[in-house]
Amino acid sequence: MNGKVADWFRGPEVAVSLYAADFSKLGEQVNSLLDAGARIFHFDVGDGHFIPDITMGPVVLKSVAPMIHGRSGLLGCHLMVEKPERQFERLKKAGADSVSFHAETCARPVDAVRLARELGLGVGIAFSPETPVERAAEVVSQVSADFTLCMSIHPGLSGQAFLPSAFERIRLLRNLLPTGIIEVDGGVNLENISDVKQAGADLIVAGSAVFWTDDPGAAYRALRAQLLILRPS
Ligand code: DX5
Ligand code: ZN
Repeated sequence: MNGKVADWFRGPEVAVSLYAADFSKLGEQVNSLLDAGARIFHFDVGDGHFIPDITMGPVVLKSVAPMIHGRSGLLGCHLMVEKPERQFERLKKAGADSVSFHAETCARPVDAVRLARELGLGVGIAFSPETPVERAAEVVSQVSADFTLCMSIHPGLSGQAFLPSAFERIRLLRNLLPTGIIEVDGGVNLENISDVKQAGADLIVAGSAVFWTDDPGAAYRALRAQLLILRPS
């Protein structure tokens, strides 16, 4: 993968999910997070088919990408859409550094990964809580994806509670892919972030835990500090 993406995703790191932002002041919030040290931004693209809501797309991505890239940050697009490969080129042009697409909605993941690589994108395989972890790991290995995105909520909305079953799924994924990069997405907060890391996550997405607070920059710093505390295993 794009070396820059690989280095950052190796973690442990917090990826800030822009889906939970206040879109009336998106630029301001992104800048304050960059000031607080955030460098990986998670951008959720949803189509109203695979998930109920239409979320955001290239127009919004394009408006924040220069700010983020200008401070050496990265934008990872999480595609919760049918036929995700149709979006890769547009997202790349709008500023995406990586794409992750759902194993459940891509008929030909090998071809999709090849396309992403041709476009110079890092590429991950995402999977929903209903998908067996073994199946997801099999696809990741088959296509040699750069990372795996393990959902710890049902894909769709920010602000949902972390599914307790996700701990076991992350542990299993870590056992199946001992050296792989694992991103975990959904319901992470100050209380559970250490356990999520302990279970095997490298990159941990946080949306509402950052934005639905009085001070997103301070919330990001608190999560990151918690993530970097070493605990005996
Ligand atoms: C929802 C998205 C998530 C979401 C995370 O399906 O994939 O990235 O924004 O938000 P929180 O951290 O609030 O669960
Ligand atoms: Zn996401």
